[in-house]
Amino acid sequence: MADNPDIPADTRSAGGIQRFWSSAGDPPLARVSRAQGVHVWDTTGRRYIDVTSGPVAVNLGHGNPRVLRAIQEQSSRVCFAYPSAFESASNLRLGERLAAEVGMGLERAFFVSSGSEAVEKCLQFARRYALATGQPARYKVISRNPSYHGSTRATMALAADPAYAAYLSPGQAGIHVPAPWSYRPVAGMDADGFAGQCAEALRATIQAEGRDEVLAFIIEPVMGFCGGADHAPAAYYRRVREICDEFGVLLIYDETISGAGRTGKFLAAHWWPGAAPDLVTLAKGIGGGYVPLAAFMAPDRLVDVVVRAGGFQFGHTHKGHPLACAVGLAVLEETLDRKLIERANEIGAALRASLDKLKAGNSIIGDVRGLGLLNAIEIVADPTTKAMLPRSLDVIGRLQAIARAEGLLIYGRRSHGGKFGDWIMVTPPLIATSADIDEIIDGLARTLHIYREELDAAGLIGARS
Ligand SMILES: Cc1ncc(COP(=O)(O)O)c(C=O)c1O
Repeated sequence: MADNPDIPADTRSAGGIQRFWSSAGDPPLARVSRAQGVHVWDTTGRRYIDVTSGPVAVNLGHGNPRVLRAIQEQSSRVCFAYPSAFESASNLRLGERLAAEVGMGLERAFFVSSGSEAVEKCLQFARRYALATGQPARYKVISRNPSYHGSTRATMALAADPAYAAYLSPGQAGIHVPAPWSYRPVAGMDADGFAGQCAEALRATIQAEGRDEVLAFIIEPVMGFCGGADHAPAAYYRRVREICDEFGVLLIYDETISGAGRTGKFLAAHWWPGAAPDLVTLAKGIGGGYVPLAAFMAPDRLVDVVVRAGGFQFGHTHKGHPLACAVGLAVLEETLDRKLIERANEIGAALRASLDKLKAGNSIIGDVRGLGLLNAIEIVADPTTKAMLPRSLDVIGRLQAIARAEGLLIYGRRSHGGKFGDWIMVTPPLIATSADIDEIIDGLARTLHIYREELDAAGLIGARS
């Protein structure tokens, strides 16, 4: 607090807005001053490197000139036009460009403002399709445990997070099947065997729930905050696709985090040919943090049926927002022209190699995993037994505080009360250079070293490397 006089001591900001999001015990937040590239400065002049692209959104870094130009150009002509009155060129053009990148026959885009909305719209669209095709009994949605699909009530129900239960109506809790883990498969199984078991759990659940009542199965193909960048072996995705086909269940990939080039392909789905989803959501990276922008993509074969049956009228005020779409177009063009998706693979591989080195020298790193620039490190008490640190420690909260003091912005587990582990996402902007990666690795090394010493001093881990 002392070094940031702008922030008052009570729970209100200087502007009089309640800080709803923080709890009484939290350390004071720094106040942002400016940002450029992969760095953010607070009002005291302190510089931070953005290890996680905010919440995995700021793919191009901050202050990108092409995006700033697009904001200026579009806003000088028209920011807002409601789609029931006007088409907008930016909306149409972004839809076309995204369809070309997404491929897999997902030709149509419906634009909204957040990942939660995109998932909600996707589920409503799936239901609309079932109604339009004479399948009114299909309404059940199966999701995975753990998962995270947003913070509206419907999307909270998908997450299987006990902390959300109190916010749901009786009977609203979703239907869940286990998500496959690579680091902690169930005892006696390897990652492949466990993933196979998880896929068969989907089949059994569809049968138990009623094969004509299940509408959709939704997954994060590479887990975000709920699973620390973990993903399954290729066979899992193919088997899930087969099972959904067998029972006429729509397969939805929530690519809020994994889409827009983050994993080294435009969609994570592109890593597993032969397992293409029926519907895909995109968010975060498609707006690059410059505007709230999200979408769900659907194939003509579904959209045409829905349109013939009366259409899909469940938009929001800002659906297809011309300014947001113009920015989305600039973000996409910049990403493609600078070959940032290919770079995500190269830089991601170098990053994982450095994280592996860090792991070798630091006994509280249990696992390093990820695809492209969607990576995480898992923190454990003992890498041999994979024992977790006590939940009461709030491992990620403490690591975030240390990291902030070391000039790093990091972000970690967010769901399921840490039941599945403690991890830090390592998801820098796609523009990160080798020098930026070195800065991140050095900062993480200092942060983890300080924390390990604290744990050692408290007798919570043995004296090790
Ligand atoms: C996989 C996934 N889906 C949906 C969401 C919700 O997105 P938003 O916060 O934009 O509503 C998130 C947010 O982190 C996410 O990670």
